[in-house]
Amino acid sequence: MIAGISDISIYIPKYYLPHEELAKARGVPVEKFHAGLGNQNMAIIPNWEDAVTMAANAALPLLERNNIDPDEIRQLVVSTESGVDHSKPVASFVQGLLNIGTRCRVYEIKHACYGGTAGLIDSIEWISKHTNDDPKGIVIMTDIAKYGFGTLGEPTQGAGALALLVEGNPRLFSLDTLLNGIFSKDVFDFWRPTGHRVPIVDGKYSIDCYLMALEGTISHFRTNHGLKVGELMDSLDYLIYHMPFTKMAHKAHRHLVEIEYKDAGREEQEKIFEESFARMVAPSLSGVREVGNIYTGSVYMGLVSLLEAEGKKAEGKKVGLFSYGSGCGAEFFLCHLKPGISRIVDSIGFKEQLENRKKLTFEQYIQFYSKSDEEILYYPEEARGFKDEFTRFVFTGFKEHRRQYA
Ligand code: HMG
Repeated sequence: MIAGISDISIYIPKYYLPHEELAKARGVPVEKFHAGLGNQNMAIIPNWEDAVTMAANAALPLLERNNIDPDEIRQLVVSTESGVDHSKPVASFVQGLLNIGTRCRVYEIKHACYGGTAGLIDSIEWISKHTNDDPKGIVIMTDIAKYGFGTLGEPTQGAGALALLVEGNPRLFSLDTLLNGIFSKDVFDFWRPTGHRVPIVDGKYSIDCYLMALEGTISHFRTNHGLKVGELMDSLDYLIYHMPFTKMAHKAHRHLVEIEYKDAGREEQEKIFEESFARMVAPSLSGVREVGNIYTGSVYMGLVSLLEAEGKKAEGKKVGLFSYGSGCGAEFFLCHLKPGISRIVDSIGFKEQLENRKKLTFEQYIQFYSKSDEEILYYPEEARGFKDEFTRFVFTGFKEHRRQYA
């Protein structure tokens, strides 16, 4: 049995800061953010939300719209690099909030932005082994991408969560994990030592590592699929790259074209790039442009963007996904979209969430992000008043060192 994904759900916080505001405040020409990085707005998470609430807010709609009894979930994996406790996993908090039963394997997984893919592959392989019943798994990617004030990474911030329903005989897409292209290497491109609230980044080097990993995964993928150099792009309909910022997809795709068409002249390569980028890559970009980096969920937000942009046109199509996590680990794999997915796509509601967001001023953004852990503990009244169609769970503070949610 080849398992896969039957449904996908996304949750993003309701606040955003336009890059225009950030550029003004930081004294940077806005074109650097709009054209140079390709981003327009970034999601800002309020004090009454965290990796746990975003995860639960993303996963609850999966249970509801598929009429799944929480007791049916046999594996719950949450991948994050924004954990709330060194010991207790985010997954256990989510298990509690969603009332998932005790006969379920529940754990948290971390490998920077690649962690979501690691959890997904593991769940698909686990479910594929169960041939005599019909188990269901949920994989969640939830993260807050927060960099230091005034750093070069600041305009690439974001926050959000994705939840994927894993089943045998999947309705949205299947993938054969044994054919994935894999690359990993011990590097220091982006890391967050224990106790640090924001990461340390070797920005330009992180881009080099990303491109090196792309090259490595592509080479392995080609071997596994019996493809020669130059045949990869014709074997796919769409390409989705891990996107810490929109322009990273341009850099990645240009690199892929250079590798795949290495004997073509510069002009010919540029023509191939322009045409294939517009057709294969551009449909996946709206999320990152509006939300920013969401680490583990980034490449899957690209998938949601593509599904909403292409609708019926995407049915039956082959999508190549490149997942990258600093440190570093990467995987390039093929998702085969199923026919008849319109109903699933129509219920995602990503565009609706984007349209319902509230704009922050630069001063409000500073207020949201400069609080110490002690200061952000108690917002129960505000939090209660904030619940809406999408934000169903909120963080209400600590009681005897125990995180409380409502
Ligand atoms: P920077 O120093 O601001 O970059 O850092 P820059 O000065 O090179 O400018 C960026 C682009 O804007 C350049 O375009 C400039 O030319 C352009 P490019 O040459 O790259 O095509 N530019 C302008 N364009 C128009 N008008 C202007 C103008 N000025 C400049 N006036 C960097 C950029 C991405 C390095 C920084 O934001 C950073 O460190 N970000 C965080 C790290 C990151 O995102 N790395 C990406 C790969 S690693 C990864 O994806 C893993 C990650 O998700 C973490 C995880 O796995 O958990 C980050």
